[in-house]
Amino acid sequence: PFAVQIASTGQVFAVPAGESVVSVLGTNGIEIPVSCEQGICGTCVTRVLAGLPDHRDLYLTDAEHAANDLMTPCCSRALSEIVVLDL
Ligand code: FES
Repeated sequence: PFAVQIASTGQVFAVPAGESVVSVLGTNGIEIPVSCEQGICGTCVTRVLAGLPDHRDLYLTDAEHAANDLMTPCCSRALSEIVVLDL
C-alpha cells in the first residue's frame, strides 16, 4: 500500500493493494479522465511532483519512466510511501 497526495489541496489518500489510484481518487470525488484503464492510451497521464512511481503502463517512453515526473494512475502504483500528484 502507498498513498497519493493531491498537491492543490494537500489531501492524502491511501491506495490499498488491488485498487487503482484512479479508483481511490474517484471514490473521493476527484475524477481523472480515463479510457483504456490498462496503461495503453495515455488518457490518464498525470504529472508527479514528488515520490517515485511504480510504472505499470506501456504508454510512456523509457525516458519518461526514468524521469518519474509523469505517471498513469489507472494502473501504475508507487515505490515510495507517497506520490504527490499535480492535481
Ligand atoms: Fe489509458 Fe490510463 S486510461 S493509460
